[in-house]
Amino acid sequence: MNADVAAGIAFGHDLNLTDADFRRICQLIYERAGIVLTDNKREMVYSRLAKRLRLHGMSDFGEYLERLARQPGAREWEAFTNALTTNLTAFFREAHHFPLLAAHVAGRREPVRVWCAAASTGEEPYSIAMTLCEALGPQLASQSRVIATDIDTDALAKARTGVYPLKQVLEMGEERARRFFLRGSGERVGLARARQELMGMVEFHQLNLHDAQWKISGPFDAIFCRNIMIYFDKPSQAKILKHFVSYLKPDGLLITGHSESFSYISDDFVLRGQTVYTLSSAARPKD
Ligand SMILES: C[S@@+](CC[C@H](N)C(=O)[O-])C[C@H]1O[C@@H](n2cnc3c(N)ncnc32)[C@H](O)[C@@H]1O
Repeated sequence: MNADVAAGIAFGHDLNLTDADFRRICQLIYERAGIVLTDNKREMVYSRLAKRLRLHGMSDFGEYLERLARQPGAREWEAFTNALTTNLTAFFREAHHFPLLAAHVAGRREPVRVWCAAASTGEEPYSIAMTLCEALGPQLASQSRVIATDIDTDALAKARTGVYPLKQVLEMGEERARRFFLRGSGERVGLARARQELMGMVEFHQLNLHDAQWKISGPFDAIFCRNIMIYFDKPSQAKILKHFVSYLKPDGLLITGHSESFSYISDDFVLRGQTVYTLSSAARPKD
């Protein structure tokens, strides 16, 4: 028994994950999505990918990885990536950002465009759409758009349904819940679905921020890129920030997560509020 196999068994699970397999998985998800997995994520990697192995009737991670390597175009790559993303999100998460967005667009006469760049299961883009409805009124809001993207196709599929547990929807307040959601009945009791007014404002597309080219057109009044950069290393963060410059209007807002600070990574953005950035004068287009 070699040391790697021993490590896999010592790990205490029925499927064999060696150190070499774990390192290979970290390398592959870094190459595909820019996600950095540290050693303390080994348990998470095991439990998430174990489901894929069991589905394929495999007992060895090495065999699974070999099969992936033999089939560069296989659908399993999508499932592999989806399994390793973390989709934690909530309606009006980090709530202080939404009044800032409302103030930024208040008084507009033209439709607004917002990009939600790590939309996960949809709670964030629908929160942005609700904010636009409240700030702009129904007429202008219906012409405004939230472009919601994520790498994870399973999360996007859930987001597109607009269906959430009623309990979760009610946490944003009875009034908002009633205005923007429909309560399920019969088989759908305990669920709520976003009203058409909201669904019609949000477009979902798959987009990998780690890609060199993005199939999306700007410019945007605001980009929400929250709680995603923490999964990337500094070179990837710098590359993505540079790319954002051409996607923002000159006075546009870049809204990031509470533990994400870019002041030391990019000269293109200046801090304007709590984790809210605008383009620096050097990065703004010259007239
Ligand atoms: C923790 S969630 C954050 C969701 C939301 N922005 C929020 O703050 O509540 C991170 C999301 O980033 C997505 N993600 C991970 N890597 C990505 C990449 N390379 N490109 C685009 N999205 C990615 C994941 O699929 C996941 O849905």
